[in-house]
Amino acid sequence: MKTGPGRIAINEVGPRDGLQIEPVFVATDDKVALVDALSGCGFARIEVTSFTSARAIPALADAEAVMQRIRRRPDVVYTCLVPNLRGMERALDSGTDELNLVMSVSETHNRANLRMTRDQSTTQLLAMLERARAAGVPCNVSLSTTFGCPFEGEVPSSEVARLAQMFAQAGASGITLCDTTGMAYPTQVADLCASLSACLPASAPLTIHLHNTRGMALANALAAWQAGVSRFDAAAGGLGGCPYAPGASGNVNTEELVHMFESMGVETGVSLVPLLDIVAKLPGLVERPLPNQLLAAGPRLRSHPAPGRYTSGLD
Ligand code: COA
Ligand code: ZN
Repeated sequence: MKTGPGRIAINEVGPRDGLQIEPVFVATDDKVALVDALSGCGFARIEVTSFTSARAIPALADAEAVMQRIRRRPDVVYTCLVPNLRGMERALDSGTDELNLVMSVSETHNRANLRMTRDQSTTQLLAMLERARAAGVPCNVSLSTTFGCPFEGEVPSSEVARLAQMFAQAGASGITLCDTTGMAYPTQVADLCASLSACLPASAPLTIHLHNTRGMALANALAAWQAGVSRFDAAAGGLGGCPYAPGASGNVNTEELVHMFESMGVETGVSLVPLLDIVAKLPGLVERPLPNQLLAAGPRLRSHPAPGRYTSGLD
C-alpha cells in the first residue's frame, strides 16, 4: 500500500462546524468547558467558534465570550472561522491565534452561505490577508464545495487550483480543501491533493476537511494521506454541517480518524481515551442521540472475557 506521512496534525472543528448547525443553543459555559476538555487531548489546533453574523449563525452568537473564557494551552493553536473584514476585526480583538477565512469555489453556494458573489468574497479575503499580515496573525483559507456543490454539481478543479494559488501567493498560511456536503470520493481526493500540493508553495500546506454525508469520509482521509496530506479537520462525535448547504451532515469523526491512523502506526498526537470521554457527553450537550460505532465497540484491541465453556479446563 502507498504510505503517507508518519505523523499527522488534527484541527478539531467540533466547537465551530459541529455546533453551528445544531438547533439548540449550547450555553456559553458548556462551549468553554468543551474547548477546555478538547485542549487536554493533544490536538494541534482547535477551531473554537466563528465570527459571523448572529442572524446567519445564531448558535455561535457568543463568539467573543467563548474566546475570552477558554483556558489556552501554549501547545494548541486556537483558530476561528471568519467570512469578512468585520468578523476579522472581532477575531483579532478576541486574541485569536490564527484565522480561518472562508469562501466557496462554487458561485451559488458562496451566495447562499455568505450572501456575496465570489468576486466580492475574493476582494474581502485579499484585503483580510493584507490586514492579517500587518497584524502578524497567520491566516488559513478554507475553500468550500471543492469536491462538488449541492446546487451546481461538479466543481472544476481548475477553479480550485486558481483560487488556492491566488490566496497562497497573497500570503495565506495554508489552504483547506472542504468537501462541504460529502460529495468527494477517494480517487478524486487523491488526484486533487496531489496536483494542488505540486503547485502550492511550502508556505501554504494543504489541509483536508471532510464530511461523512455519504459514508466515504474515512476512505477519503486515507486517500488524502496517501497523496501526502498531513493536516486534517475533524469533529468529535461526527458533529457538523453547513446550515446553508442542503443535505449537509457531520464531519469525519475525530475519534474514528485518530483510531484509524494510530492503528496504522501514524502518530496523531491525540489521546483516544479522554477524547472518547468527551464524545460520550456530546448527546447531552446537543440534546439529541449521536449513534457512534467506535464508542459502542471500543478501540480494536478491547478484549472481552471469553465464555466460560471455552476457558474452563484449559491451562
Ligand atoms: N459579525 C457580526 N455581524 C456581522 C458580521 C460579522 N462578521 N458581518 C456582518 N454583520 C452584521 C452587519 O453589521 C449587519 O447587522 P445589522 O443588520 O444589525 O445592521 C448584518 O450582519 C448584515 O450585514 P451584511 O453585510 O448585509 O451581511 P449579510 O446579511 O449579507 O451576511 C455574512 C453576510 C457573511 C455576514 C453572513 O452571511 C454570514 O455570517 N455568513 C456565515 C455563514 C457560515 O458561517 N456558514 C457556515 C460556515 S462555512
Ligand atoms: Zn464543514
